[in-house]
Amino acid sequence: MAKHQSFFILSITFVAIFLAETYESKKVEGNFDEQGWKNARATFYGDMGGNETMQGACGYGDLFKQGYGLETAALSTALFNNGSTCGACFQIKCVNAPKACHPGQIITITATNFCPPNYTKTTDVWCNPPQQHFDLSLPMFLKIAEYKAGVVPVVYRRVTCQKKGGLKFEIKGNPNWILVLVFNVGGVGDVVNVKIKGSKTEWLPMSRNWGQNWQASVQLGGQSLSFQVQTSDGKLVQSDNVVPDNWQFGQTFEAKNNF
Ligand SMILES: *[C@@H]1O[C@H](CO)[C@@H](O)[C@H](O)[C@H]1NC(C)=O
Ligand SMILES: *[C@@H]1O[C@H](CO)[C@@H](O)[C@H](O)[C@H]1NC(C)=O
Ligand SMILES: *[C@@H]1O[C@H](CO)[C@@H](O)[C@H](O)[C@H]1NC(C)=O
Repeated sequence: MAKHQSFFILSITFVAIFLAETYESKKVEGNFDEQGWKNARATFYGDMGGNETMQGACGYGDLFKQGYGLETAALSTALFNNGSTCGACFQIKCVNAPKACHPGQIITITATNFCPPNYTKTTDVWCNPPQQHFDLSLPMFLKIAEYKAGVVPVVYRRVTCQKKGGLKFEIKGNPNWILVLVFNVGGVGDVVNVKIKGSKTEWLPMSRNWGQNWQASVQLGGQSLSFQVQTSDGKLVQSDNVVPDNWQFGQTFEAKNNF
């Protein structure tokens, strides 16, 4: 009797798994409902040279020198998350607009800027909360859609950031206050925590000043500097003595490691 019962339960389980899998694959076939893709819209700003996309709200500067190039976007309030999404990477594709979309084209961008809300607008309120919106550089927009479309429906998902080389640290501030831009971050890309250590100090917490600029009110002149950088997935990379003791404000240093 017990044997029959367990056989029966086993059979039910197999049928359930089979049905679940069938249902799952049907859901996937419904194109943009693939796992992990979410709906948003995309527009573009700036021209083909991308001048307007530089120096954005994430605190990066010359995106060409910093390795981000034109593969960037400004994120609406709902996605920008007060700057904590800066450095995250997204895949984006145009959907549901056959005349506007370039089929099969997927772009990958890094979040480098903020698309500000404008509450006086009654139309084109794409960057106002709660809209999920990507304002792309023009060259990126043209990869997925026609220029004349202006705005297109897209789907997007977070992806791992593929960066060449190590973490980079640009040292700014003044003798009593150090401001460090953390960039070229691989892995999930969005830094949530930074600590700094001078050769004569303990590990000191830094706080977010704006975008990916991190600050501490401390005098570290003449000391070599080490960093602990943590990303939103909890991973931590420690770069020992990445900055030599003769550093100057305005210089950039590259670590040997990355996420
Ligand atoms: C980029 O734009 C700024 C102001 O928006 C301007 O001063 C600068 O000359 C422009 N640079 C190029 C290369 O067009
Ligand atoms: C963003 O920052 C401002 C001021 O620092 C704060 O008032 C607000 O709650 C923050 N918003 C989010 C979504 O974290
Ligand atoms: C906000 O939108 C209004 C109406 O379209 C426009 O006149 C105004 O210049 C916009 N403000 C900013 C800061 O872009």
